[in-house]
Amino acid sequence: MELELFLVVAAVLCAAGKPLSKAAARNKLLLISFDGFRWDYDQDVDTPNLDQLAVDGVKAKYITPPMLTMTSPSHFTTITGRWVEDHEVVHNMMFNTSTNQKVPHKLTMSRSEWWGNGVLPLWITAQNQGLKTASFHYPGGGVKYRGQTVNRALLEELNHPDDNETEWRQNIDTVMSWFSEEDFDLVTLYYGEPDNVGHAKGPDHPDRKKIIQQIDRTLGYLREAISLHHLNDSLNVIITSDHGMTTIKKRPQVDEIILREYLNLIKLASFEILDYGGFGILTPRPGKEQEVFDALSNAPNLTVYKKNEMPENFHLGKSKRLPPIVVVADLGFNLNSRFIVYVNKGDHGFHNGEMDMKTIFRAFGPDFKKNLLSEPFDSIHIYPLMCKLLQIEPAPHNGSLTVTENMLSGGSHRARLSVALLLSMLLLMFSLL
Ligand SMILES: *[C@@H]1O[C@H](CO)[C@@H](O)[C@H](O)[C@H]1NC(C)=O
Ligand SMILES: *[C@@H]1O[C@H](CO)[C@@H](O)[C@H](O)[C@H]1NC(C)=O
Ligand SMILES: *[C@@H]1O[C@H](CO)[C@@H](O)[C@H](O)[C@H]1NC(C)=O
Ligand SMILES: *[C@@H]1O[C@H](CO)[C@@H](O)[C@H](O)[C@H]1NC(C)=O
Ligand SMILES: *[C@@H]1O[C@H](CO)[C@@H](O)[C@H](O)[C@H]1NC(C)=O
Ligand SMILES: [Zn+2]
Repeated sequence: MELELFLVVAAVLCAAGKPLSKAAARNKLLLISFDGFRWDYDQDVDTPNLDQLAVDGVKAKYITPPMLTMTSPSHFTTITGRWVEDHEVVHNMMFNTSTNQKVPHKLTMSRSEWWGNGVLPLWITAQNQGLKTASFHYPGGGVKYRGQTVNRALLEELNHPDDNETEWRQNIDTVMSWFSEEDFDLVTLYYGEPDNVGHAKGPDHPDRKKIIQQIDRTLGYLREAISLHHLNDSLNVIITSDHGMTTIKKRPQVDEIILREYLNLIKLASFEILDYGGFGILTPRPGKEQEVFDALSNAPNLTVYKKNEMPENFHLGKSKRLPPIVVVADLGFNLNSRFIVYVNKGDHGFHNGEMDMKTIFRAFGPDFKKNLLSEPFDSIHIYPLMCKLLQIEPAPHNGSLTVTENMLSGGSHRARLSVALLLSMLLLMFSLL
């Protein structure tokens, strides 16, 4: 009888132990960002792979990027879980308002002084907890944070072509080998499309549909590569983006906003970035703040803000870097300060409440539920989700796991179930005695 009991207990322990340890295993994570992928870009074009992803995993109706709806600020919010006013990457360009120095977007990618303001991105936080991480072209991945670099970082070449499908696939092969042969835990992978086509041709152009189909084929290739590298059961994938895209209204449909018609920039401003899509910043000369504000208030089709009076939910007001005056154009109106010929047919940088600025979220892998359509949420909540998936302690952040946790298939739930099973079997045995 006693031996019999021992055998039963041992058998139950073995049965329960297996799912317990499986639930505790840490899976790997791939974060992919397709720049400027508006939330609805897959709705007017055939995307079999994206459709299949929605069946095999989680799709959010859309997600809301932070103000500013711009590449570097938004990507850095995703990877830090912090509002732009906290992480201080307040523009795609690096600037110094006292020297008037401006560094173009791509050149900022190797400038630690622009990205490293005390807030630690996920790569570094994960590495400090023993994980191995890499960044493939992802904004902010190529610099030092408090002296630390990402374990492996590839920076985009300055003349990197955005739309080479062969290269896209090679990048996937490379990343898959990092996971399967070198045991990386987290890789972030960035693609410059469909942003590029969105700007050059506009979101309604047939070429935008073509690039979405190219992205869809690439995701099909990704699924095959994951299977080939035996990563189906150990790799979670999140696919998202930084902002949407809207068609720029042009003459003769509308009068473009020419800001020099409303204020004398040279006389009133010591620094400005105004020819950069829907969003502008400006430092008035000493004593001219009110004059600048009043002048811009008279300009049509835009809203002007004093930094310290901006709406709370912009989460920009506390920034030290942001100049005192911020201008947000109405949807589709680009800011044009003087004589620069503005060629973009599509742009972003507009208010994040506009549907055209919303972007995508997809996720699949062993820890995600299947066939789940999630309600919209703010991109800031991706960070705690990624920490949960990687089983690491998050750095201080502004997201909330409760928003995104329901997407998880619940390993801990499975563990609780097997403990309950074990206890009830033990109880059953003792009642048999
Ligand atoms: C701007 O440049 C000046 C002069 O080089 C420098 O002293 C200052 O620290 C810079 N400001 C910022 C915010 O980097
Ligand atoms: C695309 O990338 C592949 C692989 O890197 C390269 O061999 C090819 O020349 C590229 N094509 C173009 C048009 O740049
Ligand atoms: C991995 O998942 C894909 C997509 O669901 C499936 O087609 C493939 O057969 C799986 N591979 C393995 C080795 O299970
Ligand atoms: C832009 O401003 C002009 C002048 O105030 C106004 O007539 C027009 O309706 C505005 N356009 C839009 C789309 O709001
Ligand atoms: C965002 O998080 C940081 C760090 O915890 C905190 O200092 C800051 O007050 C938060 N911002 C908001 C708006 O809650
Ligand atoms: Zn862009």
